[in-house]
Amino acid sequence: VTANAVPQGLRAVPGGGLRGDFVAPGDKSISHRALILGALAQGETRVEGLLESADVLATAAALRAFGAACERQGAGVWLVKGAAWRSPKGPIDCGNSGTAARLLMGAAAGFPIETLFGGDESLRRRPMGRVTAPLAGMGARFDGAATLPIQMRGGALHGIAHRNEPASAQVKSALLLAGLRANGPVELVERAPSRDHTEIMLRAFGCDVESRGFEGGVMVSLGARRDLVGTGVQVPGDPSSAAFPVVAALVTPGSDVIVRNVLLNPLRSGLLDTLIEMGAEIQVSNRRWLGGELVGDLRARSSRLRGVEVPAERAPSMIDEYPVLAVAAACASGTTFMRGLDELRHKESDRLDGMARGLAACGVEAAAEGESLAIRPAGRPPGGASVETRGDHRIAMSFLVLGLAAQRPVTVDRADMIATSFPGFAAMMRSLGAQLEEV
Ligand code: S3P
Repeated sequence: VTANAVPQGLRAVPGGGLRGDFVAPGDKSISHRALILGALAQGETRVEGLLESADVLATAAALRAFGAACERQGAGVWLVKGAAWRSPKGPIDCGNSGTAARLLMGAAAGFPIETLFGGDESLRRRPMGRVTAPLAGMGARFDGAATLPIQMRGGALHGIAHRNEPASAQVKSALLLAGLRANGPVELVERAPSRDHTEIMLRAFGCDVESRGFEGGVMVSLGARRDLVGTGVQVPGDPSSAAFPVVAALVTPGSDVIVRNVLLNPLRSGLLDTLIEMGAEIQVSNRRWLGGELVGDLRARSSRLRGVEVPAERAPSMIDEYPVLAVAAACASGTTFMRGLDELRHKESDRLDGMARGLAACGVEAAAEGESLAIRPAGRPPGGASVETRGDHRIAMSFLVLGLAAQRPVTVDRADMIATSFPGFAAMMRSLGAQLEEV
């Protein structure tokens, strides 16, 4: 680092075991939904345990621009008051957040207002046609529809029957939110069910939402009662963030870490199942219900992991966890095959390519081909590399975890964007004993 340079990167230095006990930060998906549903509801919604990350704060700012009150009362405690949404005075900046962009588009589509949606460089590359096409089918009008920036005029929507393929919870949620103010049936079919937090929370706000088995998958439909009434929401801990200290503990010898209050919704727990199949010593205790969702405490200890085959059907339940699973696989014995990963190419970066290149830089044999990734480790990962994150928070956190277990340190070129999902990541990892240095 030269004299005036602001450190942007982080280096993880291999060291002793990780030990400690902490409460997982709030779930990002549920945090966005709590604010948005609050802003659509009559009356007040008090949210506790909100994740105050850059992505969620982008949603909060957008909701204020749409005319709702959305204010912080204390750490993780927010008060939201719903309103009839109005045209925002300026563009809505969704930052790095696909969830903000797609869910807000759906929610705003129900009102006769005009909105310009924008986002950062990464978000402007991500596909939006999957949400603008069905919203147009419901009657919303668009100027630009494939990628941001997109101008939308909403209002006077009708119902829709939509096959959600590939299963995207963001698309499903956008259409359900638009459907709240639409005339006519709203029915979505998924072959492999995606996360159902929107459905669970809509019910808590008094809306009729039905989910039932359909042609081997699931059909989600809105009923007649579509008015939302403000309520209290308690946000469970984010399994996608808990994944980093859990995998770090598994792969770093001498570790014993407890992460509390982690969401255990089966549509989010694919990583846990996979790690257990790999031989991970993970115990789940204190299972309980929190805000309509199952949560529990995870204890993870250093483990001898074995390579496994991860079936394509599991992808929706662990879609954000493949980067850190790839790290676990790099520290295992034997080959791991992951299939059905096409959607990883459309995340904050092309994660399939980013993982394969980063692993190769760290001396681990990894091949991304089509929709799959094969990882063939040969002993403890050499490390000793600098990894390009391409501005992707989960790639950054994953390679920092790898650095803790490698033979030599691993540096990531950027760490600032970790704050989009897990602002306390570095502090939490250091509190467990990890050595992370600014570079
Ligand atoms: C999310 C759904 C997933 C996931 C994203 C959050 C959500 O995206 O990758 O991080 O909150 O609904 P897709 O809907 O594109 O699969």
